[in-house]
Amino acid sequence: MSESLATVSYIGAIILFILSLGGLSNPESSRRGNLYGMIGMTIAVLATVFGPRVSMAGIPWIIGAMVVGGSIGLYAARKVQMTQMPELVAMMHSLVGLAACLVGFANYIDPIAALNLSSAEKAIHEIEVYLGILIGAVTFAGSLIAFGKLSGKIGGKPLLLPGRHFLNLIGLLVVIVFGWQFLHAETISAGMFALTVMTVIALLFGMHMVLAIGGADMPVVVSMLNSYSGWAAAATGFMLNNDLLIVTGALVGSSGAILSYIMCRAMNRNFISVIAGGFGSGGGKPAQKAEGDAQPAGEVVAISAADTAELLREAKSVIIVPGYGMAVAQAQHTVFEITQVLREKGVNVRFGIHPVAGRMPGHMNVLLAEAKVPYDIVMEMDEINADFPDTDVAIVIGANDIVNPAAQEVPDSPIAGMPVLEVWKAKTSIMMKRSMATGYAGVDNPLFYKENNRMLFGDAKKMLDEVLTALKA
Ligand code: TAP
Repeated sequence: MSESLATVSYIGAIILFILSLGGLSNPESSRRGNLYGMIGMTIAVLATVFGPRVSMAGIPWIIGAMVVGGSIGLYAARKVQMTQMPELVAMMHSLVGLAACLVGFANYIDPIAALNLSSAEKAIHEIEVYLGILIGAVTFAGSLIAFGKLSGKIGGKPLLLPGRHFLNLIGLLVVIVFGWQFLHAETISAGMFALTVMTVIALLFGMHMVLAIGGADMPVVVSMLNSYSGWAAAATGFMLNNDLLIVTGALVGSSGAILSYIMCRAMNRNFISVIAGGFGSGGGKPAQKAEGDAQPAGEVVAISAADTAELLREAKSVIIVPGYGMAVAQAQHTVFEITQVLREKGVNVRFGIHPVAGRMPGHMNVLLAEAKVPYDIVMEMDEINADFPDTDVAIVIGANDIVNPAAQEVPDSPIAGMPVLEVWKAKTSIMMKRSMATGYAGVDNPLFYKENNRMLFGDAKKMLDEVLTALKA
């Protein structure tokens, strides 16, 4: 393929990537967005592999690597459960970081890469290598820890080392000093020493950064690492002089940064305090009942599936709030069937989606779209929150943190100030979950004890099946 055809293909791929991002911003156009992305990526790979910078001798190696990598990717994608998607994404991000590190080291020791460069160009090239490996190593280590946290292999409790900010600062200073030595290294081996020291510190920093972030801030970590992986790819593009990789990396990096901002706003947190760490203590413990002022007061009242169906049948308006438990139970299809039955009876059914519901951005939207729930009844939190007081039944399916009134009522709660879906303002709220356990953030939920709240204990899919049977009876 000629240089000019490769350039035109790259421009075409970049346009498709931009259209893809645009499409992904709305559920209705997201399938089209995905398609644009896939076509763009195919063009990008073909134009690179068959472009002027790859020799014929290299092609079998590349194809061999693509077959191996593609098969592993295909196997993982087919095998992964929907609830494991966030971990898979974290793992993918770690691979982008690892690739940036490996390309950086290979580029530094490659005798051809720095050939014919003026001293200024050589310095720029070395800065690219140093920064590329730095970003790559932070992304790699941080994403591996995020993988551990999201899959529950590492607890959600933040690791707060004494003097952790000081440790980070020392790490930064060492990275700067060794960066200076790297740029002035006389030999490749002297440069390699500085690079290796910096890489070890970057790996430790990446691990420390994500370990210090508490469970409740994980949504921001997921989107932040998404952004880092973009910048790591852009850095790789600089090292390889590949414009397409630079632009694509910058698109991923900046869209991830915007997503991090949106996540922070959704949780009423500022980015710096998230990075500083320490928020949220990890989940899964039973909620403690009532003692002292700030503790929830009242009785927990259970309800049966049959009585839930009765309440729903009599309601004029219902808001369904899905959360992580709906994904675990794979209850979305039954939710849709119940929605259909109620709508046929003239009940106004809508969904309220919290921006950090589930374990990844857009998690609930994907599940509801898969179950064919119409987009026009799926509302964002800001659109629907004011409607709860006029709602007969708010039914919470496997959600917890996102409907926790402690965010408004308990000033010293770790989630204080986080906007939540105000389900307790409905005439009756029904909370469907298996036990009294806390959610991901590990924060007790006073909603369980509210007078107008009922608990429907059990697996969401099983209980919804029972509700559906009772509704149809
Ligand atoms: P959570 O607060 O985690 O609550 C989910 C609830 O579902 C749990 O309390 C659990 O209670 C219940 N559950 C689990 N399996 C169930 C099943 N099979 N049937 C019925 N219920 C089941 O979820 P949420 O309300 O969606 O809030 C999301 C949380 O995750 C937030 O804290 C958010 O910060 C965090 N997070 C979000 C993201 C993104 S990007 N969305 C990423 C990482 C972390 P039982 O055990 O009693 O059943």
